[in-house]
Amino acid sequence: MSHAPGALAEIINKRRTFAIISHPDAGKTTLTEKLLLFGGAIQLAGAVKARGEQRRATSDWMAVEKERGISVTASVMTFEYGQHTFNLLDTPGHADFSEDTYRTLTAVDSAVMVLDAAKGIETQTRKLFEVCRLRDIPITTFINKLDREGQDPFALLDEVEQSLALEVTPASWPIGMGRSFLGCYDLFNDQLLFMEKSRDKVTSSVQCHGLDDPKIDELLPADLAEKLREDVAMARELCPPFDLKAYREGTLTPVYFGSAINNFGVQELLEGIAKHAPPPRAQKAQERQVEPDEEKFSGFVFKIQANMDPKHRDRIAFFRICSGKFERGMKVKHVRSQKILNLHNPVLFLAQDRERAEEAFAGDILGIPNHGNLRIGDTLSEGESLHYTGIPSFAPEMLRKVRPDDPMKAKHLGRTLVQLGEEGAARVFKANLGGDWIIGVLGALQFEVLGDRIRTEYAIPVHYESTQLHTARWVEADDHRLLKQFVDRHQVDMAEDHEGAPVFLARNAWHLNTAQENFPKVRFLQTKEQT
Ligand code: G4P
Repeated sequence: MSHAPGALAEIINKRRTFAIISHPDAGKTTLTEKLLLFGGAIQLAGAVKARGEQRRATSDWMAVEKERGISVTASVMTFEYGQHTFNLLDTPGHADFSEDTYRTLTAVDSAVMVLDAAKGIETQTRKLFEVCRLRDIPITTFINKLDREGQDPFALLDEVEQSLALEVTPASWPIGMGRSFLGCYDLFNDQLLFMEKSRDKVTSSVQCHGLDDPKIDELLPADLAEKLREDVAMARELCPPFDLKAYREGTLTPVYFGSAINNFGVQELLEGIAKHAPPPRAQKAQERQVEPDEEKFSGFVFKIQANMDPKHRDRIAFFRICSGKFERGMKVKHVRSQKILNLHNPVLFLAQDRERAEEAFAGDILGIPNHGNLRIGDTLSEGESLHYTGIPSFAPEMLRKVRPDDPMKAKHLGRTLVQLGEEGAARVFKANLGGDWIIGVLGALQFEVLGDRIRTEYAIPVHYESTQLHTARWVEADDHRLLKQFVDRHQVDMAEDHEGAPVFLARNAWHLNTAQENFPKVRFLQTKEQT
């Protein structure tokens, strides 16, 4: 069905697709839960975790998750607030799963960076921020846990500015901290926000007319009122005013102070995202740039998740709609195979449950059940042969051999590994000499999860053997004879990935450097875009 001119754009412009990036323990889960509460998506605080636990209890391979108490699976939560539809993409906080997180960030239009007021910027936050910067993703900062003693707000702003090279504009200013924390002055809307003592209650607010409003003196102790005025005057001197363009270009971040667990500052954050965060952006394909409000449907797979429902051996492809409108039952082209797919049972991720999608628009995320025919990076379209770009595959930093306990299962294991490689669960390489299978990951925990999946999903008992390998690089050259020469010279160190692309396995940094020096015209790639 086609829309009146502008009608599709209007629907799409109301969408905000975003992720939360943070270091573990900064409060991402708590903030997510409170955002969903505002969205009316869940009634009870704690529901996010409870859901997680239920899921864990029913799923075998996620035993690892349960043991470690971490969340390996990323999911999508859709909720409405005011005039807007929010798609919140969860990212696994654990450092070992950063690859999934990186890919998830290819599917969002903005991000919220949560910092712990006592700790400031931590390693994982910084890494994720760098990925956002590469893609110019606008960042909104939420400094959490103001109800505890933390660093001085100026020190925190300075740290964000200095260490991330990002301009900062405070959106609110804290009044007191720790035990004496009363609330914030909302600088964007000129109001005093008081933190309620009961965690079930929402912030109460008092509208003011600027910081000279006598209401401030009535409502705050004299010393705090004076400090607030001084601090804000200084902050205004030090920080630039909020500039929507700079924020959307990813060079300036508005900073909200709050306490997620006390439900404080969360509503202002949500309203800030609605007001300032960008609607679905244009996306780059190899062929051209695709605008979100084009009539024709298209998008790409950014993540594959196996076994969300352990009763069925299904996989869910997480798919970002980049343009147009999806309607259930529509037929689309799977560009890589040129085959037609019937999308009759995709799901939308409404926070309470997975729900069958009837219609969805650019910016939304679909979960498409499949049996392995969809891969990370695949494009689906309403006919045009588009190839969306920018979904990275990273060079692994840890490599181990994987062997079947029963040698008769070697072939079966090979097929399984190719499938897992296609899915993007890990890098799998087959050594040119000897034919050993080598698995490459970015974090050690990925080995465990993968081993578990091979044993339970594919029923192949396997074990790992350590290797002397340091890292892997995809190699390519403009002159194919030169590449062949390189491969012949380094047979012992060469392998192929699941697509047959040549990979150089380096034993140490020196080994890699020497190979590069000897063949300056060969390119050693750390990341490979999914094809
Ligand atoms: P994460 O997803 O980023 O890893 O963080 P999560 O929300 O799980 O929060 C980490 C810990 O910080 C939790 O405590 C949580 O209750 C606490 N927290 C979150 N927001 C605030 C806040 O605004 N103020 C204070 N004081 N604490 C906050 P925990 O003891 O590890 O877990 P739990 O037993 O409370 O669930």
